[in-house]
Amino acid sequence: MATEPASNVLSIHFRYARSAAEFSAIRNPGINLVIWRRNQDPALASVVDGFNAAEDCDVEAVLDAQEPDVWMFLDGCPAGAARDMLAADIDFLVRRFGVVMGRRAVRAHLETVATDACRLFHVDAAGLRMLVTYSGFGTQWAGNGDVRRDQLTAQGRAFDAANRAIVPRQSDIRTARPWWVLLQKGESYPGNAGNGIVHRSPPVEGTGARRLRLCLDEVS
Ligand SMILES: [Fe+2]
Repeated sequence: MATEPASNVLSIHFRYARSAAEFSAIRNPGINLVIWRRNQDPALASVVDGFNAAEDCDVEAVLDAQEPDVWMFLDGCPAGAARDMLAADIDFLVRRFGVVMGRRAVRAHLETVATDACRLFHVDAAGLRMLVTYSGFGTQWAGNGDVRRDQLTAQGRAFDAANRAIVPRQSDIRTARPWWVLLQKGESYPGNAGNGIVHRSPPVEGTGARRLRLCLDEVS
């Protein structure tokens, strides 16, 4: 019988935040995911959907969480309403992420994703990571009680077979919606070894689907 390998793996391991002020719940032992289910005005969201459909984006920089220079960060993106919206939101989230981490340096990566590079369910080696998919399918994750951690990594199998072994029931796969914020805790967060949140990028390659995703990381 499969058992969870570590005592810090809790079945109630994620929280829904009602606002960014509740991101701090991620610091609690055993919590490995905080989700802020934000709603975006459909008309505004469609502006970013249009940007995502038309532009390839791949910008990465280390920002000061207390004074993020998001305009320099977004210099390569075409000027317009979508860039203004993204700038405001990235500024807000970088500051919040810095507060949660207790550090000033944040690595920010805004990119268009049209491949399946991260489609295998996995845990991050990182400490904390914040993810937002502004347009397209959001990050997928599964609850601690729904995953087989002993099956993590492909182990020589095709990715589809490995994914079915890691998350045996398709109905247990949860998908974030655009604009939702996922604050994830990985394996290297102090005290969290064996309890990284199991997640993946949704498979989109060959479908024509594109995602516009922001990833914020600690700078080691
Ligand atoms: Fe990941």
